Amino acid sequence: MNNLKNSKILVIGGAGFIGSFVVSELLKEDVAEVVVYDNFARGKKEYLTEQLKDPRCTIFPIGGDIRDIDILDAAMKGKDFVISLAAMWLLHCKDYPRTAFEVNIAGTFNVFEACVKNNIKKLIWSSSASVYGDAVELPMTENHPFNNKNFYGATKIAGEAMATAFNDRYGLKVIGLRYMNVYGPHQDQTAAYTGVVPIMLNKIEANEPPVINGDGSQAYDFIYVEDAARCNVDALNSEIGFGMYNVGTEVQTSIKDLCNMILELKKSNLKVTFKPYTADDARALVQNRIGSKVKAEKEIGFKFKYSLEEGLKRLIEWRIVTGVDKSK
Ligand SMILES: NC(=O)c1ccc[n+]([C@@H]2O[C@H](COP(=O)([O-])OP(=O)(O)OC[C@H]3O[C@@H](n4cnc5c(N)ncnc54)[C@H](O)[C@@H]3O)[C@@H](O)[C@H]2O)c1
Repeated sequence: MNNLKNSKILVIGGAGFIGSFVVSELLKEDVAEVVVYDNFARGKKEYLTEQLKDPRCTIFPIGGDIRDIDILDAAMKGKDFVISLAAMWLLHCKDYPRTAFEVNIAGTFNVFEACVKNNIKKLIWSSSASVYGDAVELPMTENHPFNNKNFYGATKIAGEAMATAFNDRYGLKVIGLRYMNVYGPHQDQTAAYTGVVPIMLNKIEANEPPVINGDGSQAYDFIYVEDAARCNVDALNSEIGFGMYNVGTEVQTSIKDLCNMILELKKSNLKVTFKPYTADDARALVQNRIGSKVKAEKEIGFKFKYSLEEGLKRLIEWRIVTGVDKSK
């Protein structure tokens, strides 16, 4: 099915890591217009350089914060679909829980409400695998209990509950995507608030031994960003009007194996260093996360394309081309 022909789409958080790839994926479709709405708290205009060369793609000109109800409302006028990825990230939520509440919960409410007001045909909203917390069974299906303990996961659980209520009360069509561990270009590569893949690459490219917290047996489901972005388009194109879906590969990779794979791809002889968990990390960090891909595949037709090795190769190449990789 193709819902997107000649459609106008607002991408909230479209200048971010996953959002910039969502914009690229949308422009591969026969859409009329893709408008990015972003406050650039974390997103960057340079991630949209190529996309903005396409006359169908623009950035909403008068700002773009999901806390500004009237501006959000204006941006949604005349749009057919909305994809919303705007959120404060895990570690920001840990440090700034009240702002996390204002952006991820109240801001998300504003997005849902504006969608109803503007008769948006369908909203695709970014939830997170964080709703599950530590796994009690693997792979985790969408019925896995919510064992989350942190503020970030709490905001996503609240968002899912509101999505359900907006669907029930107003008939808003909304699909929530519970991404597993997304990696790839445009991820925050250098700041303190960054993911495990860029942290390891930064160390190896600086010719320093990569450091693993714990014994490295903790295992996750890594999905390449282009695949995660594609799932948003599949969800829009599907006939499904409501539901929460895992976005993952169902492939389990331990941090130790991930590190060895990166060392091999970088042709590095560096030896891994192991560091005990801090008490805070030992208590708070999820040790195991692999999502079942069955529901997303069956209901929205999502199939991932890139293996971890292929995705890492693309990321490593991008880091070289853009100068993020400062080795040599
Ligand atoms: N990256 C992952 O592994 C992962 C995993 C699970 C869930 N998610 C979720 O997916 C979504 C996208 O994640 P990402 O990794 O691309 O994050 P990101 O931080 O790169 O992207 C979020 C974007 O939203 C923008 N934004 C933040 N606050 C805003 C506000 N108040 N108003 C308007 N725009 C705002 C940021 O500037 C940024 O461009 C988020 O909702 C995140 O919680 C990501």
